[in-house]
Amino acid sequence: SLLFWLLSFCCMKTNKRIFFFQYTATPLCCPSRSSILSGKYPHNHMVRNNSLSGNCSSKAWQSGPENQAFPIYLSKKLYQTFYGGKYLNQYGSKEAGGVTYVPPGWDQWHALVGNSQYYNYTLSVNGKAEVHGDNYEKDYLTDLILNRSLAFLDERSPQHPFFIMLSPPAPHSPWTAAPQYQKSFGDVKAPRDGSFNKPGKDKHWLLRQPPNPMVNSSIDYLDNAFRKRWQTLLSVDDMVERLVKKLEDVKELNNTYIFFTSDNGYHTGQFSLPIDKRQLYEFDIRVPLLVRGPGIQPKQTLQVMMNIDLPMTILDIAGVNVSTLNMDGQSFLPQLVPSARNGTSRPYFLVEYTGEGHLPTDPYCPKLGPGLANCFPDCVCEDAFNNTYACVRTFKDYNLQYCEFADNEAFVEVYNLTADPYQLENIVKKVDPALLQTMNQRLIKLQSCEGKKTGQDVFTTSLCCYTSSNRFTCDF
Ligand SMILES: *[C@@H]1O[C@H](CO)[C@@H](O)[C@H](O)[C@H]1NC(C)=O
Ligand SMILES: *[C@@H]1O[C@H](CO)[C@@H](O)[C@H](O)[C@H]1NC(C)=O
Ligand SMILES: *[C@@H]1O[C@H](CO)[C@@H](O)[C@H](O)[C@H]1NC(C)=O
Ligand SMILES: *[C@@H]1O[C@H](CO)[C@@H](O)[C@H](O)[C@H]1NC(C)=O
Ligand SMILES: *[C@@H]1O[C@H](CO)[C@@H](O)[C@H](O)[C@H]1NC(C)=O
Ligand SMILES: *[C@@H]1O[C@H](CO)[C@@H](O)[C@H](O)[C@H]1NC(C)=O
Repeated sequence: SLLFWLLSFCCMKTNKRIFFFQYTATPLCCPSRSSILSGKYPHNHMVRNNSLSGNCSSKAWQSGPENQAFPIYLSKKLYQTFYGGKYLNQYGSKEAGGVTYVPPGWDQWHALVGNSQYYNYTLSVNGKAEVHGDNYEKDYLTDLILNRSLAFLDERSPQHPFFIMLSPPAPHSPWTAAPQYQKSFGDVKAPRDGSFNKPGKDKHWLLRQPPNPMVNSSIDYLDNAFRKRWQTLLSVDDMVERLVKKLEDVKELNNTYIFFTSDNGYHTGQFSLPIDKRQLYEFDIRVPLLVRGPGIQPKQTLQVMMNIDLPMTILDIAGVNVSTLNMDGQSFLPQLVPSARNGTSRPYFLVEYTGEGHLPTDPYCPKLGPGLANCFPDCVCEDAFNNTYACVRTFKDYNLQYCEFADNEAFVEVYNLTADPYQLENIVKKVDPALLQTMNQRLIKLQSCEGKKTGQDVFTTSLCCYTSSNRFTCDF
């Protein structure tokens, strides 16, 4: 699903747009959203999966990381804050405090109970349940959160800045397009890119299971899913257009930063996996990030940002002293607005994922036995308890990805992203063992890193540091 943010600020002249490569610290909704809110890697916010038992919206999350999440600091700076749409998959459930629980820092709260829906859902509206049916004019969620945000812009006090976070479930399943868009993109199919319908032959065991080539019904299913996803995004296009127009009308457009991004990537047929996220490959860990706002200078060189950097960047724009924050990310304000300050980009980072499984068996394909999940369509499983991995993705010295699995093969995958951008060949057996060792050491450090205060200049150093010989160090 998509996240669309607006942050009002003050007083710089030009408005330009910038497009970043952005990576998620983990390719799954609830853990990724928890990273976006807390600025922490999953090993520090401890949200492992989409279940309460994996800390999705759990009491431990609420009393811990959510209590230091970025909206609280915006609120302290007298920002008027608004949330609309999907929050965390378990939000609103009884065990998570029900709809009366409103996370701290939000003045206006219009959050979806549970996972993605377009109709027939319940919202928590500032702690009160609001039940919706399936009348397009009254209930379509993408339009409804837009309308509420427009009302918020009218009602806010012009004395103070504002922050709006809109989180339409689109283009997440169940892919229910608005009536006027249900026939759009009739001839669109999922892209047949370099890894589409290719076997995952030298990859970890889960990727070696799907039939190759895919069965025709899987291809029909994924093409249809791709088309419906685009249809749902037409309402998101409308949302962006109407919000930008509104900002112009209330004379705030030249005073507002707009971030457009998502919580995880997605695949449709890559390595013969029909549809999902959850994998370590670029198609699942890379997400678009578009930023527009005062003083932004488009760059020629590749800018790599992570989702854990979003809260630091937003708080930096809002004038919060980010060097005091307990977050793992770094501010990208220097990369956005070079006139603000000097900054360096991060040379490498961590992606970590804890596989989800089903016990006793996956409901879509019980014949396959325990521990597998998301075996849909056609009994192709996209997850398993031991689809649990951690990767280092490097940019500066090598354009490389190195991943270790916590499975009983201790499986390793290595990709040279320059020679092999579609990650077709796992080069673990070809690469210099010394390089593997370097990557393994980087991984070990990153897996225990935490963004505590270090006294170092946070604008030039990634805050995720680690303890070595009892010393707290940040050397990357
Ligand atoms: C959930 O978070 C708490 C602390 O925030 C932690 O103690 C616990 O181990 C976490 N659970 C999982 C499954 O990681
Ligand atoms: C909404 O719920 C009603 C009543 O259960 C059902 O008839 C209708 O099909 C549902 N609409 C959608 C879009 O799921
Ligand atoms: C949103 O507002 C538009 C224009 O005012 C209206 O036509 C539409 O029905 C509203 N949609 C929802 C879901 O509130
Ligand atoms: C699958 O689709 C291809 C291309 O449309 C077709 O040639 C083939 O006969 C189909 N296979 C089956 C089993 O229907
Ligand atoms: C922003 O636009 C408004 C008019 O829409 C104008 O009055 C104001 O001076 C502009 N501010 C900047 C910083 O350009
Ligand atoms: C989520 O994580 C918890 C704690 O590790 C685990 O017990 C549970 O089975 C996981 N849920 C799924 C669907 O994998």
